[in-house]
Amino acid sequence: MQLALCTWQEIDAYLTRSQGIIVPVGSTEQHGPTGLIGTDTISAELIAQRAGMVAGILVAPAFPVGVAAHHMGFAGSMSLRPETFIAAIREWAVSLAQHGFRRIYFFNGHGGNIVSLNKAALEITEEVNPGLDGNDALQCRVQSWWQYENVHALCQKLYPEGHGSHATPSEVAITQYAYPELIKSAALEPRIAPNGRFTNAIDYRASFPDGRIGSDPALANPVDGEKLVSAAVAGLIVDYQRFVG
Ligand code: NI
Repeated sequence: MQLALCTWQEIDAYLTRSQGIIVPVGSTEQHGPTGLIGTDTISAELIAQRAGMVAGILVAPAFPVGVAAHHMGFAGSMSLRPETFIAAIREWAVSLAQHGFRRIYFFNGHGGNIVSLNKAALEITEEVNPGLDGNDALQCRVQSWWQYENVHALCQKLYPEGHGSHATPSEVAITQYAYPELIKSAALEPRIAPNGRFTNAIDYRASFPDGRIGSDPALANPVDGEKLVSAAVAGLIVDYQRFVG
């Protein structure tokens, strides 16, 4: 169930049987020479909507821009400062809480959002819960699609080498499954990008000139993307249902 495609009466009715909702959270940032700039939003939204459809869970609109300052050396990347991101996420959640939502599951697609999402979750409960009795307290959960055990295992099996940490074949495969007509090809040199750290956007661009970190996205294909989506949907449903009790 997508919130955006419901009427207010349908949300009223949903709230009588569940106070839970999934909020997909993404990012708009470069994903190497073959990855879509919307990769993190596309993947979080697709998996959340699929889970919502299978299990009858309400899914909010995807939050499309994350904390991605380190990608700003590459054209098209967009970023929110952490405090802006936290404030916006908090206000989304407080809006939902005003209608009676009490289990807000932030389903994340971008590693750079995790610290800020956890901070936002803390601020949300601090804002909403005073004055509510224990049973009516709001809870938030933050989870990223690659963190489920079954997804992690599948990534290791599909990509024993060249998974890396940015513009990974797993995330590229998910977008290839979502948009098979937009599969990109480019020369990848070296085939597996270097691994390492960076301190800021300039250093990132200098150390990882094509945007990838440790990855070989040429390993991606839409068939594996479908497997990854199925695994993440299953992981999300189990974890969400445990969370909402
Ligand atoms: Ni990504």
